[in-house]
Amino acid sequence: MSYLELRNLRKRYSKDGPLIVDNMNLSIEKGEFIVFLGPSGCGKTTTIRMISGLEEVSGGDILIEGESVLRKQPRDRGVSMIFQSYAIWPHMTVFDNIAYPLKLQKVKKSEIRERVKAAAEATGIENFLDRFPAQLSGGQRQRVAVSRAIVVKPKLFLMDEPLSNLDAKLRVGMRTELKSIHKRESSTTIFVTHDQAEAMSLADRIIVMHQGKIEQIGTPMEVYHDSASRFVAGFIGTPPTNFFEALIEKTAAGFEAVNQHLRYTIPAGLQSALAGREGKPVTIGIRPESIGVEKPGGKSAAYLCDAEIEFVEPQGSYVILITRIGGGEIKIVHTGSSDVSAGSRVSLYIKDDGVMFFDADSGKRIR
Ligand SMILES: Nc1ncnc2c1ncn2[C@@H]1O[C@H](COP(=O)(O)OP(=O)(O)OP(=O)(O)O)[C@@H](O)[C@H]1O
Ligand SMILES: [Mg+2]
Repeated sequence: MSYLELRNLRKRYSKDGPLIVDNMNLSIEKGEFIVFLGPSGCGKTTTIRMISGLEEVSGGDILIEGESVLRKQPRDRGVSMIFQSYAIWPHMTVFDNIAYPLKLQKVKKSEIRERVKAAAEATGIENFLDRFPAQLSGGQRQRVAVSRAIVVKPKLFLMDEPLSNLDAKLRVGMRTELKSIHKRESSTTIFVTHDQAEAMSLADRIIVMHQGKIEQIGTPMEVYHDSASRFVAGFIGTPPTNFFEALIEKTAAGFEAVNQHLRYTIPAGLQSALAGREGKPVTIGIRPESIGVEKPGGKSAAYLCDAEIEFVEPQGSYVILITRIGGGEIKIVHTGSSDVSAGSRVSLYIKDDGVMFFDADSGKRIR
C-alpha cells in the first residue's frame, strides 16, 4: 500500500473554468522525498493545498495510508505545510511561533519545551528562541517556518517553495539542511519548486508538471537522461537541451534525420522506432554535453554537421561553446582540450548515442 495516493485528482476554481489540475495519478511511498517541479501556474500549489485540505477537490480522491481523507479537516490529516510565503507571526517570539501548533494540540508544557528545542536545533536557530521575527534575517525566518513544520512530526510534510525568498548561497545551504532533516526524521515529503537544480539535488523522485498534468515521474537521473517529452527535456538541465526540427529519410545507411543544415544517422537501437516515420517531421533533442567537437572534416559515424564556434564561456572545470546551426543557437558543454576558441571551425558529432527523438506534434518521446 502506498503512503499517499492521488487518484484522478482534478481541480477547477469555477464551474466552467479550466481544469487547473487535470486527472493527476500518483503513488508515494513512506519516507520518500518527492519534488513537484513545473513552471509558474502549472498547478503545484493547488495540488498540495488539496492534499493538505485547504482547498476542495473538484473530482478524484486523495488517500493517506489507504484511507480517503477528503472528508477530514486539515488538522486531522496528519499533514504539515510550509507555505510559499512562509507565514510566521510577527508578534510572537521564535519559541512561540514554533510552539504554536503544539499548543493547539494541547501538548504538555514540558514536552512543548523539549520538542521546540529539538526542532530549533534541527535548523540551527536554537539561540534565537527569545527573539521576534523582525530581529531575524530572511534565512533565519525561513528556518522558523521549517522548525514549526517539523515540530509536529507530521506524517506528511508539504513544502511550497520554502527556499524561494533566500539568496542563492543560503538556498543551497538550506537545501542541504532540509535533506539532512529528512534523512533524520524520515518524514514523507512533497517539496514544490520551479527550480530544476533544486529539484535535481533534493528529490528521490521528481514529478514534472505542465498545465495541470504530470509529464513525467522519475528519479532525477531518469528525467534528465531519459526525458519522456520535449517539455521535460527543455525544462530540465542548464544549459538547456538543444532542439532541431528534422525529417526522417531512408538512405543506403538506414534511416537518417535530415534538415538543411545537418544529417545524422539514427543509432541502431532507434532505427526500427523511427522506420514508420519516413518523410515525417521529428524534433531532435541533444543535451549540451552530448555534442562532441572534433577537427573539421570529422569522420565520426555520429557526425552531425560543421560549425563555427562563436563564443567560449569558461565555467571553471568546463567551457560552454556557443555556435549556430541554421538560425538556432547551440550550446555545448566541452570538457576536453582547450584548443577551441571563438572563430574555430569544427565538426560536431553526437557522443554515446546521446540523442532523443520527439514527435513533432505531440512532443512525446519516440523510443
Ligand atoms: N483561488 C484561485 N482562483 C482562481 N484561479 C486560481 C486560484 N488559485 C490559483 N489559480 C490559478 O490556477 C493556476 C495554478 O495555480 P497554482 O498556484 O497552483 O500554480 P503554481 O504551479 O503553484 O505556480 P507558482 O510556481 O507560480 O507558484 C494558475 O493559473 C492560477 O492563476
Ligand atoms: Mg505555487
